[in-house]
Amino acid sequence: MSACERERASYRFCLIGFYMVLTTGPVLVIRKVIMFCVNGCFNIHYLRQEGRRNIMLRKLIKVSCVTITVLFAFTALAGAEDLKPIKLVAPEMTGGRPLMEVLKDRKSMRNFAKTKLSDQTLSNLLWAAWGINRPEQNLHTAPSASNQQEIDVYVTLEKGLYLYEPKSHELKPVLAKDLRAATGTQPFVKNVPVNLVYVADHGKMYRNRGVPKETKKFYSAANVGYISQNVYLFCASEGLGTVVRGLVDRESLAKQMKLRSEQEVVLSQSVGYPKNPAKK
Ligand SMILES: Cc1cc2nc3c(=O)[nH]c(=O)nc-3n(C[C@H](O)[C@H](O)[C@H](O)COP(=O)(O)O)c2cc1C
Repeated sequence: MSACERERASYRFCLIGFYMVLTTGPVLVIRKVIMFCVNGCFNIHYLRQEGRRNIMLRKLIKVSCVTITVLFAFTALAGAEDLKPIKLVAPEMTGGRPLMEVLKDRKSMRNFAKTKLSDQTLSNLLWAAWGINRPEQNLHTAPSASNQQEIDVYVTLEKGLYLYEPKSHELKPVLAKDLRAATGTQPFVKNVPVNLVYVADHGKMYRNRGVPKETKKFYSAANVGYISQNVYLFCASEGLGTVVRGLVDRESLAKQMKLRSEQEVVLSQSVGYPKNPAKK
């Protein structure tokens, strides 16, 4: 193989590297970088023998710089690309136990089994929490002050963080990272199959109407209360355990969830099956 052919081959290798990096997740990026470096070393080794080391080395450095820049940009944007959207199955809007019995059983529970929720139960839970029950008017199962609908329900599962989209009834991937432990300061939260995080997006509220932040916070807290109570009632009806939680390091959680500055964590809520139904 002539020096020119080798040069061309190394460029081709770089292009293949770009393509592979751009089409795979960040987990594989490190492997690709190692492969790239090994290949570069081979080229330098051959060219050193031919006295063309400096020319080729300069070219390799140039290509490496571009590759590394692209890799950084790519990994900075990455996070959700390993997670796929979850199209939730259609929620069951009938059934459940009689309301008065459910009210009798509503309670907070903190002793969770690791058992995951079925697809149907997760779908029903999210619809009960903040689903759309009057699609023609885009209205929800919980009220919201001045119908501002500023609360977003984030869902932390073992496989990652999702945002519940009530209109399409799906889970939009946010981060391929298990953030369950970050949703609260109590030890049990890290193993609960589902931790909901209620986030108020103050940017969506009373745009350009000069409403003070205090008022927005007050309404957001009330709005979250209704969603949380929907979850409590659904859980009581389904034999699930739940507890709403204010013991949350909001600043740290917001950072880990990569929230925007107008977004604020209000409360978290754990949902799962009771480990020992007798214990609270
Ligand atoms: C706004 C709010 C914040 C709460 N924060 C927590 C919490 O961080 N951790 C927890 O274990 N329970 C929390 N709870 C649950 C209460 O402790 C619980 O509702 C109370 O003890 C009454 O029990 P019950 O829900 O079974 O009636 C919270 C409840 C509310 C309404």
